[in-house]
Amino acid sequence: MYEWIRQLYADPNMARMGHAQSIEDQNLGSGWIYYGLARALRPSTVVVIGSFRGFVPLVLGKALQDNGRGDVVFIDPSLVDDFWLSPPRVRRHFKNYGITNVRHYCCTTQEFVTTEGYRSLDEIGLLFVDGYHTEEQAQFDFTAFEPKLRSDALVLFHDSVRERQSSIYGENRAYTHSVCRFMESLRLDPAFQVLSLGLGDGLTVVSRAQHHPDPRQVLIEATRR
Ligand SMILES: C[S@@+](CC[C@H](N)C(=O)[O-])C[C@H]1O[C@@H](n2cnc3c(N)ncnc32)[C@H](O)[C@@H]1O
Repeated sequence: MYEWIRQLYADPNMARMGHAQSIEDQNLGSGWIYYGLARALRPSTVVVIGSFRGFVPLVLGKALQDNGRGDVVFIDPSLVDDFWLSPPRVRRHFKNYGITNVRHYCCTTQEFVTTEGYRSLDEIGLLFVDGYHTEEQAQFDFTAFEPKLRSDALVLFHDSVRERQSSIYGENRAYTHSVCRFMESLRLDPAFQVLSLGLGDGLTVVSRAQHHPDPRQVLIEATRR
């Protein structure tokens, strides 16, 4: 693993974008969490929405390869620059790190949901949301994939604990991250469990609530018998 991390960090861009990485001690930062969850859940399908240079799809692809099975569906329309535009170049990029299980779709989530690739997806074990960081887009991404999640799936939202300005799409397209507002509405929904971590630029882990019977209801039903 450390040899793979050394190779990964040969490109210092892999330590950017706020995943609490550090090159000095070959530390994946939150990447250990992504890797560990993918090893523990052993998903057959992982979906990643958005990535600057592929840190998250690479780490998750590595975890699934180490599991011996599973594919990463990676959706990114390459809105920051031209990095994801050429399919042969994208394949070479992942292969450079020994990763051959990432399927890239060069489109927005809005476009992806109209494709056969979307219709044929099911049993997603891990969903990583790191695309356009507005409340509305985070909600769109979550709503699009929630019906396709495995019952024990986890959804990770990056850049999700605070509002902040980003000019990653250019000074004239600066915008405010507001994913944290969508996290607040998920927190109010009893269907989900939500845990936010202040690591790096912030990470929120969401799962479906495990429904244990309400003890008061159990008592009421017992007295009726
Ligand atoms: C660079 S990453 C991480 C964002 C970064 N931390 C920031 O400051 O906004 C965001 C990626 O999301 C992609 N993206 C933007 N809008 C998207 C959408 N509607 N669907 C899927 N990906 C999207 C972009 O192409 C970009 O590569």
